[in-house]
Amino acid sequence: MKDLTPEKSTLDPIETASRDEIAALQLKRLKWSLAHAYENVPHYRKAFDDAGVHPDDLKDLSDLSKFPFTVKDDLRKNYPFGMFAVPRDQVNRIHASSGTTGKPTVVGYTRNDLDMWADVVARSLRASGTRPGDVVHVAYGYGLFTGGLGAHAGAERLGCTVVPVSGGMTPRQVALIEDFQATTILVTPSYMLNILEEYNKCGLDPRQSPLQVGVFGAEPWTNAMRTQIEDAFDMHAVDIYGLSEVIGPGVANECVETKDGLHIWEDHFYPEIVDPETGEVLPDGEKGELVFTSLTKEALPIIRYRTRDLTRLLPGTVRSMRRMEKVTGRSDDMIILRGVNVFPTQIEEQLLAVAGLAPHFQLELSNDGRMDAMMVHAETIDEGTSAAHRAALSDMLRSRIKDVIGISCTVRVDRAGSVARSQGKAARIVDNRQKG
Ligand code: DLL
Repeated sequence: MKDLTPEKSTLDPIETASRDEIAALQLKRLKWSLAHAYENVPHYRKAFDDAGVHPDDLKDLSDLSKFPFTVKDDLRKNYPFGMFAVPRDQVNRIHASSGTTGKPTVVGYTRNDLDMWADVVARSLRASGTRPGDVVHVAYGYGLFTGGLGAHAGAERLGCTVVPVSGGMTPRQVALIEDFQATTILVTPSYMLNILEEYNKCGLDPRQSPLQVGVFGAEPWTNAMRTQIEDAFDMHAVDIYGLSEVIGPGVANECVETKDGLHIWEDHFYPEIVDPETGEVLPDGEKGELVFTSLTKEALPIIRYRTRDLTRLLPGTVRSMRRMEKVTGRSDDMIILRGVNVFPTQIEEQLLAVAGLAPHFQLELSNDGRMDAMMVHAETIDEGTSAAHRAALSDMLRSRIKDVIGISCTVRVDRAGSVARSQGKAARIVDNRQKG
């Protein structure tokens, strides 16, 4: 793999500023953001009043912990535009996340917000090793989802040649990567595996593809998956994080030269880690739920938003801004089996350690009697495997899960191609548990 470390002179000055400079900027912006939310959004005015706090009470960054949290349901209750802090005619763009139940959550952007978003995505791409002039293939979905259009604007801002493919039609993805000689791809890691499969189907060697960088996010993925994709394509696989309520992709990104967690673009998004049960702020280094406060957003200021993503904050390395460790999972995706907590990423890690198993999987939950049970659906890499071989693979995976994670489950290994494929975010959990 090529060394793609960006020249220091191409970075934004704030990326290498001192911690004091960053903190001073954050405090100034945070005061503005709290006042902006309080003065313009009835929800925030009421929530702050109910908690007995006023934006003027913030003297120090640590005072933020006195302010109330915001949760997804607050956005739903204020559907569609009740959380906006500017008149609707100043909102230049709307995105929405579908969610599986209830009303979608709607987010809005002013012209300045769209500009800032393009800047942070451009910064993310530069950190990933992408350079002006590169051909950037965007396979995140275009539409209400923030992935496609967010990535698109950032790649244009960096000065790249952007190919807005969106998700789906996998044979066409491969043809366009090859024909246009794309050097960067933005796509969910699970869909990248489908693209890999298509390369193999066409008899093309993925290691000979023009791709040098993959910027993967929108769902949790492990370092084991990184190794798998990097080896298959002979390319860098870099993690990008974000969520629509905070802006979309580009809240945090790994640096290609270290791949040691994601630097949070702290000049725009202020992170905290809280205990998911008590809401108490935890010190850097401790694992908990990630919470974000926007510092510059106009249309949808977001104060102490509970992401439900679990990670920890670490000091900066090749950038001054703090890092977040790769997200292990969302608290919503945590499976509890006989008292043991398990995330799909832990299963991914074990699956990728068994030679002969493909990287695709789904977890099916059921409850026979009172106990919850889990079945791992996996598949072989080769199409022509015997039933005995599949049974041996399934034994191997089952015992790894038992020994390393400490849970008992059943494993079903089918032939290549039998696990449902995703075109965007993978649905890892199929919940067939009877409620009540
Ligand atoms: O997924 C934005 C995005 C698009 C990020 C493209 C990166 C690339 P939402 O649909 O609102 O926005 O979903 C946000 O996805 O709270 C996490 O649970 C998960 N997520 C996003 N990026 C990562 C990542 C977009 N790198 C939710 N690792 C978040 C793990 C991620 N989970």
